[in-house]
Amino acid sequence: MADDLGCWNIADLHAKARRRLPLGIWEYLERGVEDERGMARNRDALDALKFIPRVACNVENIDTSCEIIGVPSTAPIAIAPTGAAGLIWHNGDLHLARAAAKAGIPFTISSASTMDVEQIAEVGGKLWFQLYMWEDKELSYGVLERAYVLGCETLFVTLDLPVMPNREYLYRNGYGMPFALNRNNMLDVMMHPRWLLGVMGRYALGGALPAQANLPPNLKSNIMKSSKPGTVFRQADLDWEAIKILRDKWPGRLVLKGILHPDDAETALNVGADGVLVSNHGARSLDHSIAAIDALPAITDRVGGRMSILFDSGVRRGSDVVKALALGADGVLVGRAALYGLGAAGEAGVSRMLDILQDETRRVMGMLGLTDTGAIGSQVLAPR
Ligand code: GLV
Repeated sequence: MADDLGCWNIADLHAKARRRLPLGIWEYLERGVEDERGMARNRDALDALKFIPRVACNVENIDTSCEIIGVPSTAPIAIAPTGAAGLIWHNGDLHLARAAAKAGIPFTISSASTMDVEQIAEVGGKLWFQLYMWEDKELSYGVLERAYVLGCETLFVTLDLPVMPNREYLYRNGYGMPFALNRNNMLDVMMHPRWLLGVMGRYALGGALPAQANLPPNLKSNIMKSSKPGTVFRQADLDWEAIKILRDKWPGRLVLKGILHPDDAETALNVGADGVLVSNHGARSLDHSIAAIDALPAITDRVGGRMSILFDSGVRRGSDVVKALALGADGVLVGRAALYGLGAAGEAGVSRMLDILQDETRRVMGMLGLTDTGAIGSQVLAPR
């Protein structure tokens, strides 16, 4: 595995990104909610799973490729939607999308991104689209049409933020909407000149500060200004009827994101969803939620084989990828890990992250005596 960045694992990319980013941006990417117990719970639950290796299986030719919700991918890995990529790197969404396309894995465009879906879709590759509902629902329906025409095959509707999550550090840092300048955050960005010039400086030279790019031009307002009426995300009134409406409007595949209860997975199936993403939003929504990996087996038992099951929340190693597949997932999404790569070195950092994760997945498969991802099942895990 070639390395020009001095990064041999995702923790190295994490450390490099931390050095480059101002604290306020870093905390937005890195932290959870309230007392931040959830992130450790996600990790502990993944770490508690143990493999039973198998020997003498001839693993000379290991193939990590697979199909995720009907899309061929070189690995059971996809990049999760993250709205703030454009604050971590100049035009960060493009860098994420390019690295994913080069690696041959799917990339999920965020409805909250600071580049619009048209700009990102130009990169090509295997594209998915994630939706939040704006207060004015017609805005969200409008963006769906654009995403579908541009080739996004699957829609992810995020359901695990029905109310605003409690991220106290954002208020403290002035990272609200609009962004509020104060003595601390000014000092913070001044102390990170590479970021200030390389990200904000380049936006300023281009004549426009980051904004919610998927809104119609007359409704956009940049991060320093208050949102225009109808353009804040509001999901409190989402119910299964609202999801049926989205199902009817979206001609492609539909995945419901943030499912942790098997009854919800079953209802998702009944309203015509093609998949569920088992996730606790990387412990960024409800601090004391069940670890996403602990929710996976019951969901697999209930709907496995009848719809696609994806997983995210805490993936940092190839072993995590294999564990999720062993418990019934068809693939995993990476959010923070992708942003660590992006924050460390833009596209090159994201490519590095994907290389690392794919390489680690291959090694773990080899140790378990497996040569193709379809053979990964509960047999690889020690009984809990
Ligand atoms: C948005 O999805 C976030 O977690 O910040």
